Amino acid sequence: MRVRLKGDAICTLFLLVVLCSLLYFQLEHLVPVGNKELTQKKPSITSKTFSDSRAPWRLMPAEATEPRLQVTPVLRQREVANKRVQTTTLSPLSDSAFNFKGYLLNKDNRNFDLLINQPKKCRRTPGGPFLLIAIKSVVEDFDRREIVRKTWGREGLVNGEQIERVFLLGTPKNRTVLATWETLIHQESQMYRDILLWDFMDTFFNLTLKEIHFLNWAAEFCHNVKFIFKGDADVFVNVENIIDFLERHDPTEDLFVGDIIYNARPIRVRKSKYYIPETMYGLSIYPAYAGGGGFLLSSHTMRKLSRACKEVELFPIDDVFLGMCLQRINLKPILHEGFKTFGIVKPSAAPHLQTFDPCFYKDLMVVHSLKVAEIWLMWNLLHSPRLSCTQKKQVKKPFQWKKKAQTTMQASPLR
Ligand SMILES: *[C@@H]1O[C@H](CO)[C@@H](O)[C@H](O)[C@H]1NC(C)=O
Ligand SMILES: *[C@@H]1O[C@H](CO)[C@@H](O)[C@H](O)[C@H]1NC(C)=O
Repeated sequence: MRVRLKGDAICTLFLLVVLCSLLYFQLEHLVPVGNKELTQKKPSITSKTFSDSRAPWRLMPAEATEPRLQVTPVLRQREVANKRVQTTTLSPLSDSAFNFKGYLLNKDNRNFDLLINQPKKCRRTPGGPFLLIAIKSVVEDFDRREIVRKTWGREGLVNGEQIERVFLLGTPKNRTVLATWETLIHQESQMYRDILLWDFMDTFFNLTLKEIHFLNWAAEFCHNVKFIFKGDADVFVNVENIIDFLERHDPTEDLFVGDIIYNARPIRVRKSKYYIPETMYGLSIYPAYAGGGGFLLSSHTMRKLSRACKEVELFPIDDVFLGMCLQRINLKPILHEGFKTFGIVKPSAAPHLQTFDPCFYKDLMVVHSLKVAEIWLMWNLLHSPRLSCTQKKQVKKPFQWKKKAQTTMQASPLR
């Protein structure tokens, strides 16, 4: 009896020792790998993804999608989440690391529902409106839309031509915001009848979807429009100048005008917001495309582009994507001096002279990157009856900031 008990105990003890040593070796084998992954991956995540707050997108290297990285998922996720909160407050554009692989895999998923439509937008005027102003916006930017409505984006007659306006929106990327904004955006749409909302996430890299969906919408619901201006909500647009320019053109002919960028090279620096790997775009030069501030097109070109873009593969940079559509219909976009994609405001050089001199804006069509208050103030200054800009000398190229001498010359008409 005693012997048997002893034997059992020894047996159990032996088994325990074997089990423990097995466990020990398992752990010893696992732990260093985990640590290695951690120490190797951590710096690369921080440096690639978040070191530059303006360019937080990151290429997902092929290895990053491999399952062995799952060793420390919790830590990584939390770290990424923490960093993301920081960057979102710095830059509204920075959402998440951009996953090129995922983008390529989902590229064919390019038809999304229209959640809010304005089907009668272009039926109010017999013969159709002269100009449709289409503005890219995000649901959260109510104040920007409001300022545009009250300034350059006004509907109605301008210089005798009928103007209509729509805002182009996707669903907010922050789903908590969506819950409250859904009712608000419907209210806003009821009130102004200028909201177009599609069922795709409103991210920087989905702007191409916005482009495609807007062109399709215009071809279907606004085919009788004569011209379209499509732009951002942070621009100042001199609508009078645009009308003046467009009245000299034929809406049944091709027209595509803007701040055209020629021979731009794809950015191969991974840290950049505009980084494009060779696998996504192999050529060394992009087709000519219009810079983001805004561009004009005729009704004829709108219909052609809407068809052409359906045949072009999705590309994450919307401006370049439209350039590819233009290339497909063999249409050469026209560069116009009046479009200033990157703004004319140089804070370092005599800001008191430049920023709020309405005479600067008088000869321009589109100026990019303005704050809400600046748009409001500029529009009001430009429409003030007391504004007089002596234009005895028409300067041919008025806005070249390379030479200091021209700065002072430009400031003189104000007085
Ligand atoms: C989403 O919006 C809510 C409410 O405004 C905010 O509290 C939350 O931090 C936001 N989340 C992200 C990830 O930005
Ligand atoms: C674009 O929107 C779709 C649909 O909401 C979403 O699944 C996808 O992740 C978005 N893509 C990007 C690059 O943001």
